[in-house]
Amino acid sequence: MTESTNRKFPTWDDYYKNEKIEKMPWYNEKLDFDLEEKLNVMQLNDGIFLDLGTGPGTQAIQLAKKGFDVIGSDISETVIKRNKINYENKYPNIKFVIDNILNSDFKDNYFDYIFDRGCFHVFSEEDRPKYYNQIKRILKQNGTLFLKCFSIDEPMKDGPYRFSHNDIHNIFSKNFEIKDIKKTVYQGTLDPLPKALFSIMKLIK
Ligand SMILES: C[S@@+](CC[C@H](N)C(=O)[O-])C[C@H]1O[C@@H](n2cnc3c(N)ncnc32)[C@H](O)[C@@H]1O
Repeated sequence: MTESTNRKFPTWDDYYKNEKIEKMPWYNEKLDFDLEEKLNVMQLNDGIFLDLGTGPGTQAIQLAKKGFDVIGSDISETVIKRNKINYENKYPNIKFVIDNILNSDFKDNYFDYIFDRGCFHVFSEEDRPKYYNQIKRILKQNGTLFLKCFSIDEPMKDGPYRFSHNDIHNIFSKNFEIKDIKKTVYQGTLDPLPKALFSIMKLIK
């Protein structure tokens, strides 16, 4: 692993209680452009999508608009309540649920696709195996994980854990066929946009 220190994160629920959602570093109203491009190339527009660590719910909404059945999950009760009130009536193909991915209540083999834009990269080395095992359990055989995380090229001092191409291979290649890892940015409210990796991985159980 490239990092041995433990990074610090807010208590997520307090953060959503106290801060303005549109100002959060990850707030991005449009669908992540790397995911959008891949969904178009792969011609995907149906199936069950998990927007993991959905936060403001923007990615879940955009996926629902594309025609997927979407579940947006987050550990923060505050943000999930907000999303339920604001969006569930408007978009009948989205449900928002409180769920901790490190000890998830989702059923086995339930999702066709998982989009993780910024959840995985908040977990310490110690928590990553729990994440991995839950993703493997809840994703269907041949299901796809689309993962956006900060890259080792990002110079900002604070913020989430950083990953290299090798790290992604080392963490995921036991059960995932790694289709692509692309150097990109993490769209949001920061300027400049943080450097990131976008990985596409197919689950082979
Ligand atoms: C960097 S934010 C990204 C939010 C969203 N994916 C987006 O792109 O706007 C990370 C999110 O992961 C959520 N999170 C942190 N730990 C989690 C856990 N154990 N299970 C589920 N969600 C978690 C946080 O509450 C937060 O909303």
